[in-house]
Amino acid sequence: MGKPRPREAEWLAPHHHTGRAHPSRSSLLLLWTLLNCSVGGSAQGPGEWTPWGSWTRCSSSCGQGLSVRSRHCIWLPGEELCSGDSHEYRLCQLPDCPPGAMPFRDLQCALYNGRPVLGTQKTYQWVPFHGAPNQCDLNCLAEGHAFYHSFGRVLDGTPCSRGARELCVAGRCLSAGCDGLLGSDAREDHCGRCGGTNDSCLLVQRVFRDAGAFAGYWNVTLIPEGARHVRVAHRSRNHLALMGFDGRYVLNGNWAVSPPGTYEAAGTRVVYTRAPGPEETLRAAGPTSQDLLLQVLLQEPNPGIEFEFWLPRELYGPFQAQAQALGWSLRQPQPREVERQPPEPPAAPAANPSWTPHSTPDPCPPCSDTRGRAHRLLHYCGSDFVFRARVLGRLRQARETRYEVRVQLIYKNLSPLRALEYVWALSHCPCPLLDLHREYLLAAQRLISLDGTQDRLLLPHAGYARPWTPAEDSRVRVAARQCPV
Ligand SMILES: *[C@@H]1O[C@H](CO)[C@@H](O)[C@H](O)[C@H]1NC(C)=O
Ligand SMILES: *[C@@H]1O[C@H](CO)[C@@H](O)[C@H](O)[C@H]1NC(C)=O
Repeated sequence: MGKPRPREAEWLAPHHHTGRAHPSRSSLLLLWTLLNCSVGGSAQGPGEWTPWGSWTRCSSSCGQGLSVRSRHCIWLPGEELCSGDSHEYRLCQLPDCPPGAMPFRDLQCALYNGRPVLGTQKTYQWVPFHGAPNQCDLNCLAEGHAFYHSFGRVLDGTPCSRGARELCVAGRCLSAGCDGLLGSDAREDHCGRCGGTNDSCLLVQRVFRDAGAFAGYWNVTLIPEGARHVRVAHRSRNHLALMGFDGRYVLNGNWAVSPPGTYEAAGTRVVYTRAPGPEETLRAAGPTSQDLLLQVLLQEPNPGIEFEFWLPRELYGPFQAQAQALGWSLRQPQPREVERQPPEPPAAPAANPSWTPHSTPDPCPPCSDTRGRAHRLLHYCGSDFVFRARVLGRLRQARETRYEVRVQLIYKNLSPLRALEYVWALSHCPCPLLDLHREYLLAAQRLISLDGTQDRLLLPHAGYARPWTPAEDSRVRVAARQCPV
């Protein structure tokens, strides 16, 4: 069965004499053609379609209906039939039907009301029966009786089920493609173009790896207006948060965790899931009608937040520019791949020559001792940043030493600290000297160059850097309370 396809129907007709198939004129012609071919002629090219006729009026007078257009195949003896469909059906949408209007299917059943059917003089009142197998058959229930009867197919354009978008055409339930044609397999691509090939937009796909140095909200990315197929996922006890263009949170705002579910935002539906894994996801089909700000509410170090969305090509440049203008370019060059670098053996010379080269033995004199409460207070109160950090790397250059550290805990900060930071000491032989792979309590200054291009964390000479211990932690907390206001 299926979509009326003359080629199939007519090929089948002469061979399979089902009760329903009536050999039409063209199928007789086809048979004749086939016989002729098998006798002598050889098949030539296919026939030709006439241009499409115009669309018929909508089959319904209100609500959803069907409109048809057709074309004819013109072929000569010896030619094959045209390939393709002779009819096209498309959805038409008229204003909604008035509330009390009788649905199309009900109307078709009601045509048999009070008429003798089933070979007897008995009459019944008929209403649609939806429990039968083929939803495009006109199955009607005899009201007040326990049987239904199938009166053949429903008329073309009858909804397959109540309220469905799919319509019955020639006994088959067809859904419309994005081109509005029933039975068409045209689908929107990820850029929202019907039948497109994803080439009018770009996929933005990144992993936000900033581990975050303190609990709280961190910006992950801007999701610009026009984004489609937004997906975000992470596995940790942190929570994704979404802020609208007006600065109001859509979910997980103001330190309160929202229930999983569907949220309306920026003209689209955002589906938020949370699994005990722990794992969270956000999905939205888009397109978004406004910018959204994706954040994460950190409670533990961030293992990575994967996000992606599709942006129209023309919006990609502005998105990047905006992200940079928002300061999401990193304050300092970030040591992104720290974990993948071969660990430096603590005692032996480093494997990587650009880090503490072999040829440079440590000629630095020992540093003087800088212990004591006064020293600690002075540094704590006078510093811009006090934090606990682990030393991941050390690079000595001509007149400075750059430490790469992982920030573990922040006691004091003038501006946000990132999980991975560089701390600079302005000497080839810095004091205090930090050992690799150890954890320290550090007090640092912020150093901004005159032209504003460099913003650094500075470990002052003879500054405060103590190996971290629980005792050191409580001493610092005491110091924190003693700073002059
Ligand atoms: C567009 O991209 C999506 C996601 O990668 C893919 O599933 C889909 O098949 C693509 N569509 C086309 C037409 O290439
Ligand atoms: C995050 O982005 C918003 C919007 O641009 C900005 O106002 C806010 O200061 C940013 N927050 C942080 C911590 O960078």
